[in-house]
Amino acid sequence: MRSLKRSNQHFKKASTKLPLGVSSNFRYWGDDKTIYAKRGRGGRIWDIDDNEYIDYRLAYGPVILGYADPRVDAAAREGIEVGGVFALSTELEYTVAERICRMVPSAEKVRFSNSGTEAVMAALRVARAHTGKDGHIVLEGGYHGVFSEVMWYSEVEDWDPKDGDPEVLPYGDGVPKVTKRMFHTVPLNDVNAIEDLLREHHDIIGSILIEPIMGNCCGIAADMQYMQDLRYLCDRYNVLLIIDEVKTGFRVAKGGAQELYEVRADLCTFAKALGNGYPIAAVAGSDEVMSWIGDDVVHGGTFTGHSVSLAAANKTLEILDETDALKVIEQYGIQLREGLSHILGERDIPHSFAGHPAMLGLFFADETPTDYRSWVDSDYEFYDALAPVLHDQGVLVELDSREPWFMCEAHSRDCLDETLNAFERAVDVTLQKLSNAA
Ligand SMILES: Cc1ncc(COP(=O)(O)O)c(C=O)c1O
Repeated sequence: MRSLKRSNQHFKKASTKLPLGVSSNFRYWGDDKTIYAKRGRGGRIWDIDDNEYIDYRLAYGPVILGYADPRVDAAAREGIEVGGVFALSTELEYTVAERICRMVPSAEKVRFSNSGTEAVMAALRVARAHTGKDGHIVLEGGYHGVFSEVMWYSEVEDWDPKDGDPEVLPYGDGVPKVTKRMFHTVPLNDVNAIEDLLREHHDIIGSILIEPIMGNCCGIAADMQYMQDLRYLCDRYNVLLIIDEVKTGFRVAKGGAQELYEVRADLCTFAKALGNGYPIAAVAGSDEVMSWIGDDVVHGGTFTGHSVSLAAANKTLEILDETDALKVIEQYGIQLREGLSHILGERDIPHSFAGHPAMLGLFFADETPTDYRSWVDSDYEFYDALAPVLHDQGVLVELDSREPWFMCEAHSRDCLDETLNAFERAVDVTLQKLSNAA
């Protein structure tokens, strides 16, 4: 039986100095469920009780090659020797920017930041400067970081369609109400809804911010045609298309979601996989739009272009660009999906998958949801019951079914059979528990 004794003890100590005992609200899983990491290697992590897990959270996506990848870490060590930050730029910024521009056709110019949040903030600011319009559209279920202008969401869990659209609420207290006026939202894949909104409000809406494979909403994906329609509508209404590739970038394809959808963003944002876990992010876009940065738009930050993160990004991108790592990851995801499906099928459990094999969403419903509203029709309560049992069996997935399972190159070495055996046991334990409770 898995013991969390040390994690529980540490939680008590940590919560005396850190709210909820953690550095991010999402890492708190309950007073006796919060676990503390000791180390990670390849596709696995160990907690401070020495429990070993095959990890499909991968820090919410950054770990694309594996934890402590020796190739990236060796580069990062060279980055330490450079000296960190200087309040000056270094030559490596150009090298990494140039690689991004080669991999992502819409990227003609790049600026670096430290986190996805900062990159998306910068993209929205540039869009406001370029269009002269302060509003933006975020698709229901979309998550774009922890800054106020995007910290609103559609409450679908207690929503009754008879009452009209779901209520739009802030993510917690402290989000200024004034930012709600800038925030507009519609369901994904409903082109009429977004067209109606733009027809009525294009004078105040300057951008559409979209993650075409929703990495914070089970990987629910936009249709190919929908993305083409958005491109058309953006051009028609002088609105910028911002594709948030913080999770999809350098994960679902070398050129990100834009490559899969054959669509060109005006601005796009990258973070997670860019540095295999080292903190680095980027906003990129067309020469014309990115050129607002400078005399017109302020962008910067003390830690941008840190020598360690840049060196890690340089090596990570080199590997992703010049090897078949992303194909290996995709293949692993396909095999995992097939294995999970086989186990669930044998037990007549309705299920389906969304997203991309490198970041897959597992649903307990025959039909894959096409928007956040239809996610509520899946049996997410079964997922909620299964996830902690998977932890006991040594497979770490997010407790919230809205977070996809992330794959890394290192998983392919030895994790598949172990994961499937653990999954099979976990499903049976969960079925038994639920039938005992009934
Ligand atoms: C699509 C997307 N955009 C932005 C962010 C914010 O990135 P960060 O957590 O690095 O600030 C996230 C984080 O999960 C994300 O998934």
